[in-house]
Amino acid sequence: MALPVPDGKVRIVPSLLAADFGAIGAAVEAVSSATDWVSVDVMDGHFVPNLSFGPDAVKAVKARGRVACDAHLMVERPAFFAKSFADAGADVVVAHEEASEDPEAFLAALGRRSQAGIAIKPKTPVDRLLPFLKRIDLALVMTVEPGFGGQAFLSDQLEKVRALREAIDRSGRKVWLMVDGGVNAETVALAAEAGADALVAGSAVYRKPDAAKAVRELRRVAQDAFDRGRKAVR
Ligand code: DX5
Repeated sequence: MALPVPDGKVRIVPSLLAADFGAIGAAVEAVSSATDWVSVDVMDGHFVPNLSFGPDAVKAVKARGRVACDAHLMVERPAFFAKSFADAGADVVVAHEEASEDPEAFLAALGRRSQAGIAIKPKTPVDRLLPFLKRIDLALVMTVEPGFGGQAFLSDQLEKVRALREAIDRSGRKVWLMVDGGVNAETVALAAEAGADALVAGSAVYRKPDAAKAVRELRRVAQDAFDRGRKAVR
């Protein structure tokens, strides 16, 4: 399953950071009837004060075969890791603009092995992401300080989402606008109405008794909000 192309249909992207680490395959199966994309949050203990997954987690996800997988590199050296996550099967590899290795080095290292994304943290202005729009397939606005799931959504990031949506529309390119952090039944509508069409959800999916049902409910709310937002700008 390759990364879908932005098609006006909102995607809820379950974050495996919130899943049972002892059963990653089962966590993918639990949502594969409701989504075609899951997220692997990679943390190196330097860029963020937490450690999580390596490339083998992406391999485990892709071995189930039924979903696309992004590798969200919350690491200081995304250029160093780009190839290993692409070779593990990541359909898109996302680096942070703020990492110590320059995004240009990351994009060069990734080459055509996988699709590319650039992410920005809450304190980073959206202008730092715009120069990459012509060369990426996914732009990620963090709505929490990266490093841990279960945090509260930072609604002051919505202005960045709106600005990015306008820029992506102006570019005429098919670039996913992803939001990650604190997405739940209440906040998903805010992010989607602002223009996000890919919404990462960890706790709001895997802390529920029925993960697939949670994804479907979030997607329904998100799609209505996204469509409302698109009508409002026409
Ligand atoms: C933060 C992580 C989390 C995770 C989603 O670095 O990227 O945002 O994916 O976690 P929730 O949905 O629980 O905020």
